[in-house]
Amino acid sequence: MVRQLFRNAKIYSPVDNGRALKGSEQGQLVHYPCGAMLVEDGVIQVTGDEGVVLSGCAGDIQETDCEGRCLIPGFVDPHTHMCFAKLREREFEMRIDGTPYLEILRKGGGILSSVTAVAAASEEDLAVNTLKHAMSALALGTTTLEIKSGYGLDVENELKMLRAIQRMAEESPQDVVSTFLGAHAVPVEFKGRADDYISLIIDEMLPQVWREGLARYCDIFCEEGVFTIEQGRRLFSAAKKIGMEVKIHADEVHDLGGAALAAEMRACSADHLLAASEINIKKMAESDVVANLLPATAYSLRKSYANARLMIENNVPVALATDCNPGSSFTESMQFIIGLAVLNMQMTPAEALVASTLNSAYAIGMADQVGSLDKGKQADFLLLEGETPAILAYHAGVSSVVSVFKKGQLISGGVGV
Ligand code: NIG
Ligand code: FE
Repeated sequence: MVRQLFRNAKIYSPVDNGRALKGSEQGQLVHYPCGAMLVEDGVIQVTGDEGVVLSGCAGDIQETDCEGRCLIPGFVDPHTHMCFAKLREREFEMRIDGTPYLEILRKGGGILSSVTAVAAASEEDLAVNTLKHAMSALALGTTTLEIKSGYGLDVENELKMLRAIQRMAEESPQDVVSTFLGAHAVPVEFKGRADDYISLIIDEMLPQVWREGLARYCDIFCEEGVFTIEQGRRLFSAAKKIGMEVKIHADEVHDLGGAALAAEMRACSADHLLAASEINIKKMAESDVVANLLPATAYSLRKSYANARLMIENNVPVALATDCNPGSSFTESMQFIIGLAVLNMQMTPAEALVASTLNSAYAIGMADQVGSLDKGKQADFLLLEGETPAILAYHAGVSSVVSVFKKGQLISGGVGV
């Protein structure tokens, strides 16, 4: 058995009480000014004041002096589209020149241009490209992440994407949760026949994805010109029937009622929510749906941010994610997301940290293993520059992550750097 002691750290972590933190709990962190953590075979045994932890530490032990740095849980990024084949810089320039995101999609670009690129790529190419972005996220502190399919849009290519994600996950030290997003856009061959495409997903894609264990969640993009709420309800009913959990791209540009559908179908999370109404946010609270907010998307599309304060006031647990994708939000950095959440969504640094660790772990069903420094969880943690985790919002445009540990192993950076 390998026993490790990480000592002389300023520890900050949410405490896991068995569900995502909401309301006033959203900003609650436990803090040990001179803390330590005892780890056995990559699993946390105790986190607490150094004196208390040391008193229970006899025998053979590898000791690491954290040199007084802040120690926080590794970031959990619960919404990415990192599996893609090509960037879309030209479209970015079009958006900067004023063409709206949904208009680019209507004209066959956007998500559909990523579909063309994925169709031309091999499973191996996709795995390599996905791993590249995941490694960039890892160096920036993301120790667990979700990755969606959704640039395949036919049986062969959706499965290819999910297998590529599975393949890259074997190469990465991160925990990777995959989500089936066959309903990301209406493919060109189904133009004007979105219902038929949903039938194809339900009859052919879903059963195969589920049988091969290729995805934990089923997701859909409900938006004007994409899929309707009724189509979402149909897809979710089919997914739940075979035992698959659901999540939704909801109310990103228009308030279609995606948040209400998430509540009705007891989705694990509703994501985006830039345009969600207060009444539907209240419905999410009643059903314990996590609001998975993606501020870099609002930033990149130059839209108003989701109303995080309203969600917190209404007892909706808030999580944060990068939405890393080649279109609406191209970043792997959870620190950038925390900065946007604090400075543009009026979240406190503590709320944003909870949203990026424990609540984001709940948003992808991983809280039993990661997201806080509680006994029994994986020793996934970061050492930071600075006196408090507020550095993550305060120091803009750089990484404040000095070291990244996964299951107790130093993966990136170094102690004493
Ligand atoms: O979450 N909104 C839909 N899907 C992604 C964007 C995907 C893309 O533009 O390639 C999102 O923002
Ligand atoms: Fe997305």
